[in-house]
Amino acid sequence: MRHLLNVSDLSTEEILRIFALSADLKAKFRAGVREPLLPGRVMALVFEKQSLRTRVSFQSAMTHLGGASMMLGDDAGFGKRESIADFTRVLSEMVDVIVLRTKLHQTVVDAAKYSSCSVINGLTDQSHPCQALADLFTIRETVGTLEGQKLAWVGDANNVARSLAMACGLLGVEFAVASPRGYDFDDAFVAKLHAKAPAVKFLVTRDPVEAVRGAAAVYTDVWASMGQEAEEAQRRRDFADYQVNGKLMAAAGPTARFMHCLPAKRGEEVTDEVMDGPYSIIVEQAANRMHVQKGVLAWLLGAQS
Ligand code: CP
Ligand code: NVA
Repeated sequence: MRHLLNVSDLSTEEILRIFALSADLKAKFRAGVREPLLPGRVMALVFEKQSLRTRVSFQSAMTHLGGASMMLGDDAGFGKRESIADFTRVLSEMVDVIVLRTKLHQTVVDAAKYSSCSVINGLTDQSHPCQALADLFTIRETVGTLEGQKLAWVGDANNVARSLAMACGLLGVEFAVASPRGYDFDDAFVAKLHAKAPAVKFLVTRDPVEAVRGAAAVYTDVWASMGQEAEEAQRRRDFADYQVNGKLMAAAGPTARFMHCLPAKRGEEVTDEVMDGPYSIIVEQAANRMHVQKGVLAWLLGAQS
């Protein structure tokens, strides 16, 4: 039994296996076939924060695979009515997989410790592994290969950035990050990245132009993540020079794509021109969340295709 709490839980070979399953299931879906690899399996989702993409992509994925899912609301009392340990011990006796979106990363770690079924991290303050897997899958699909490509992150070195950096390290993609002082990756994460992916090409700069030059994809995210609402005004000032706009995309080069995990704050971290530009692959990227959740579920629950 395996959990997926961080990208670093996976080896390169396991990520490629998940991509192979995802690509196969996506091709079949496109051809009108919804292969029931997981009949009778049940997924529970417990989210402490808002979500559109993650919850719907997981629920649709499980339905297409022949299983069932339930979104547990506030009335289930996660973290409120009983301990996380008791909640998870009981829930995991009744379902096959639990997807958690929690405020604190430690909560998914605790839940996994007590769960008798697989736990998937659907975003915490520290990481967003399923997002990063879908994003690297999208780059591979769009560009044709991952080897030797460069992904440029402009903005806050946050949960999504951490997971992307790790996925890039494991898949041979250079990761360049441009963030303002005070919004860098912490030393412990950088050490973990180098330990898990010793060959990683990792560029840290304050200069967005340097980060994006020659990149296959330029990626940004909101300046204030969920839970950081009180810091919004300060962050708006601190990130003012880190907007992804037409000028920055031009500096990246003619083949650079634009990516964003969404939801976006148009006019802040990214302009309308870029979001809606010909190089923007934000919708394909979001759509691939569902296809790659299928790969994740099929791999984690041991279905063979
Ligand atoms: N990108 C992403 O995880 O979106 P949601 O917050 O809508 O799930
Ligand atoms: N960094 C964002 C990602 C949302 C998908 C957040 O944590 O709110």
